[in-house]
Amino acid sequence: MLDLFADEAPWSEPLAPGAVVLRRLAREKSAELLAAVEQVAAISPFRQMVTPGGYTMSVAMTNCGPLGWSTDRHGYRYSPIDPLSGKPWPLMPDCFLALAQDAASRAGYPDFQPDACLINRYQPGAKLSLHQDKDEACLNAPIVSVSLGLPATFQFGGLTRSARLQKIFLEHGDVVVWGGESRLFYHAILPLKAGHHPQVGAWRYNLTFRRAAQ
Ligand code: SIN
Ligand code: FE2
Repeated sequence: MLDLFADEAPWSEPLAPGAVVLRRLAREKSAELLAAVEQVAAISPFRQMVTPGGYTMSVAMTNCGPLGWSTDRHGYRYSPIDPLSGKPWPLMPDCFLALAQDAASRAGYPDFQPDACLINRYQPGAKLSLHQDKDEACLNAPIVSVSLGLPATFQFGGLTRSARLQKIFLEHGDVVVWGGESRLFYHAILPLKAGHHPQVGAWRYNLTFRRAAQ
């Protein structure tokens, strides 16, 4: 039978070996995801963390799940306790886990068991400089990265800082998955442009799911 909806969301765009953009995959569930972000932030609020070099990050962050990523003057780490609240990070909402596992399996990683979800909140001007995600003990598992709200330009490079960067415009509901050969590829987010998103307002959120422990 002719598939009249073949062009409809979600659709996937190959990015690099082991990496793919799943366009609009999270769009249908975005209201539920955003409500869950608010519930997490009510327990562990967004905060601008300080890097070991003493720089205050422009992106505000919180986490949910068994482990949360944080940085301070002493370094980067994953920890079960939120250093701000002194309590465990909030539970990972079911809708987060379901989306992360669906995205990972669509990208060819069927057994993804994330134990950490970093939630980034970008205000206009906020950016994330070129870096690798390499604080995780498990490098077999992919990274699943969900964009909500205002669009942003994502740069995706290679194994060295100087590798050529692809620019990918990420919009509300887009999901990027990278693992395998590209698990340690450098990436960045360019400064967020001001705007208004009908559901989210003046922000961009990014949910990054990882397997941090072995
Ligand atoms: C990250 O690199 O951890 C986040 C990327 C993004 O905000 O899309
Ligand atoms: Fe990253």
